[in-house]
Amino acid sequence: MSDVKRIGILTGGGDAPGLNAVIRAVVKSAANSGIECVGLEDSFDGLIEPGRSRPLTPRDVTGILRLGGTVLGTTNRGNPFAYPGAAGTTQDYSQRCVDMFHQLRLDALVVIGGDGTLAIAHQFSTHGIPIIGVPKTIDNDIVGTTNCFGFDTAVDFATDAIDRLHTTAEAHHRILVVEVMGRYAGWIALYAGVAGGADAILIPEIPFDIELVAQRLRERDKWGAKFSIVVVAEGAVPKGGTRSLIQAARDGYVERLGGMGAQVCEALGAATGKETRSVVLGHLQRGGAPTSFDRVLATRFGGKAVELVRRREFGMMVAYAPPDIVARRIEDIVGKIKNVPADSDLLLTAKALGVTFGD
Ligand code: F6P
Repeated sequence: MSDVKRIGILTGGGDAPGLNAVIRAVVKSAANSGIECVGLEDSFDGLIEPGRSRPLTPRDVTGILRLGGTVLGTTNRGNPFAYPGAAGTTQDYSQRCVDMFHQLRLDALVVIGGDGTLAIAHQFSTHGIPIIGVPKTIDNDIVGTTNCFGFDTAVDFATDAIDRLHTTAEAHHRILVVEVMGRYAGWIALYAGVAGGADAILIPEIPFDIELVAQRLRERDKWGAKFSIVVVAEGAVPKGGTRSLIQAARDGYVERLGGMGAQVCEALGAATGKETRSVVLGHLQRGGAPTSFDRVLATRFGGKAVELVRRREFGMMVAYAPPDIVARRIEDIVGKIKNVPADSDLLLTAKALGVTFGD
């Protein structure tokens, strides 16, 4: 079997702090193994449109370790197998991508992305493209890996925001509701809620009863804590209710979640008679420099990706199984979501401390 000489690298889906750290690690360790790297711009668009790729040398990635975003650009629409066109139509550009892969003389593709991007990568695997996946998402919902890079940075930011809201909530004896991201998983809400000392944490995995939440906050008032902090995951659902959407799914776009924090805020105001305010942290959770944990994880992922390329172990995703970085088959992880399990130690610990999840 011939040696790998040249690999493509792309970033897909929503950005997450640490993408640049992975790119840097891949390019540097590949160069040190005599492998050239080609950066593809804006996810798979770099394989669909000509002129959307460029060589990446160690010189090109110097200084990007600490930068948020991605120097390659990204998109969370534009699946080459169903590319959105005019008036709700879709086009299959997958063969064009395979042709471009060969025209660029690539031997393998390193795909850094979340569940959607990795599912596309898996489809290309079945079309004969040698793929290595690197799991990315602030939501931390990819199965097979304890952590995705970006999650720690998002939790760190949300915790800092909760700390700031604590002081103003206490000063005004108010209830402050914080809506965090995470899509259909409650990891960011759970970790930031516990780290920030929230009194209620509402996550998609546990449909909540607003009256139970209000009861707990009223109890706090009774014993003298006249303020409360409530963390709401964007995907949280009231018992018997539905998710709050900013926009329903449409061609090429997944549904956009948001608004549950404001609904909870209004309901808690009515149920407790207290002043309430809500804050949406939104895309602030995706911006800024990665934490040292995420830089190290991203760097280890990038290094492991190149090791797998060199060994020609394709169709694999690098993953964190503390303390090791391991390889998992991409086909085993696509189409699944890693939710907060009911027996999560952190969930049970928070409950034991008196945090309500509204159940
Ligand atoms: O998957 C990452 C994420 O930030 C989710 O937490 C959030 O629901 C979604 O992406 C937002 O996507 P967009 O950038 O398209 O608004």
